[in-house]
Amino acid sequence: MSKVTYYRRKPLPLEMHKVCIVQKTNIIPVEERVKAIRKAGFNTYRMESKDIYLDMLTDSGVNAMTNEQLGAMMIGDDCYAGSQTYYRLADKIKEVFNKDYFLPVHQGRACEYMLALAYVKPKPGSIVPMNFQFGTSVGKIQYCGGDYVICIKEEGLNRQSSDLFKGDFDLEKLERILKEQGDNVAFVRIESGTNLIGGQPISLDNMLATAALCKKYGVRSVLDASLLQDNLHFIKTREDKYKNSSIREIVRLISDAMDVIYFSARKLGFGRGGAIILNNIEEFEYIKTFVASFEGFPTFGGMSVKEMEAIRVGLDDTLDEDIIAQGPMFIEYFAQELEAAGIPIVTPPGGLGLHIDAMKFVPHIKRSDLPAGSLAAAIYIASGARGMERGGIDEPWANPEVEPYGAMELVRLAVPRRVYTVSQINYMVDRLTWLYDNRDLIGGIHFETEGPHQFYDALESNSDWPEKLAAKFREDFGESL
Ligand SMILES: Cc1ncc(COP(=O)(O)O)c(C=O)c1O
Repeated sequence: MSKVTYYRRKPLPLEMHKVCIVQKTNIIPVEERVKAIRKAGFNTYRMESKDIYLDMLTDSGVNAMTNEQLGAMMIGDDCYAGSQTYYRLADKIKEVFNKDYFLPVHQGRACEYMLALAYVKPKPGSIVPMNFQFGTSVGKIQYCGGDYVICIKEEGLNRQSSDLFKGDFDLEKLERILKEQGDNVAFVRIESGTNLIGGQPISLDNMLATAALCKKYGVRSVLDASLLQDNLHFIKTREDKYKNSSIREIVRLISDAMDVIYFSARKLGFGRGGAIILNNIEEFEYIKTFVASFEGFPTFGGMSVKEMEAIRVGLDDTLDEDIIAQGPMFIEYFAQELEAAGIPIVTPPGGLGLHIDAMKFVPHIKRSDLPAGSLAAAIYIASGARGMERGGIDEPWANPEVEPYGAMELVRLAVPRRVYTVSQINYMVDRLTWLYDNRDLIGGIHFETEGPHQFYDALESNSDWPEKLAAKFREDFGESL
């Protein structure tokens, strides 16, 4: 990141870009917000964007593009097979990741499906050890007849921690699995920027040690690089050994150690798309047959050439410290301000978004009354911002009386890259501080129907707490939106 210090003012995260295109947004009154969240069944996934002021549901596919990405979209070579756009992108991928073969697909979960078809399906009952699960990844593995084993180190699940790399593998556990069940392991999945534990990074040393264990036991290493951008920033700024290495050198160290790399371009900072990258020509040819059947001809794989050109240019942005620092810097600032107000969050702050610890924010709400979902609804009422529940709604229990509850109940306020400003983050800090002071007014919610449930199902409030919360807002804020 470019080094800038301040004379007297408290340092703020300083953007190294200027904004050339803007989109108007809108705040509806608090009473209307209560109606909107009720209409959406207390599930932020079901809301309409017209009712939302700051859309912090996700960073996926909603990051701001650069003028160079937008410009490159105009030179896409639109043809079904053999497009020059494919070859330009393949060359860029070779330059960045030093791997010979690349297959485009329409988004991250398609990469996961192709890899599960190629590596898991031929070995029914095989397992995929991984630092942590992600819904789309494990869904495809299980669909193809395999299963997953979580190997995150214990500290990774500690919500308040000073460990800078909570995404690291427990290498002893991984080695035990590889030693005892090596023949039954389809591949090891290494997730950068571990999403579901709060966008927490994995250290470069741990990635390299994991890949070395894979080599030792003859097992394929597969990097999920969807959140690599944030992870690269954290390696550079938190892992002393690599502080003098360039981002390009760090990427090369990672990619040379991995057998296969895939990413969701939506998460890596672009608009859409995905990529599978590898060196093994037989495996490339085999996976290509699935891409051709399920995604599109292998020189576009379900993407438009415009999106592919944007990725080509965007990959250079991924290597630019000024560009990749913006997201983590904003999240760190957001976290510091909330911590100063005593609000419980996941620490240290990671990438992709700010994660609020709902079990501590609303300890009076029982797990069966869905604390994170209730808090996400209350945050919308208080601010007009929509976050994402990461708890019992996201991973519904078939029977909450019997099933163990998941490790965490979080509300994620995603910070899409280069989209929101410091004043909008300050507004959120203010509204969250008010909400925390009034947290006793927040009540629980429940699914409207009998299970089994999906994360996008409708819910209902257990009482009229949303109206009471809105009335208190009106009392405290007067005419304010
Ligand atoms: C780590 C990780 N892997 C894979 C995916 C799936 O990507 P997509 O949403 O593009 O299908 C995501 C999406 O959030 C992700 O965070």
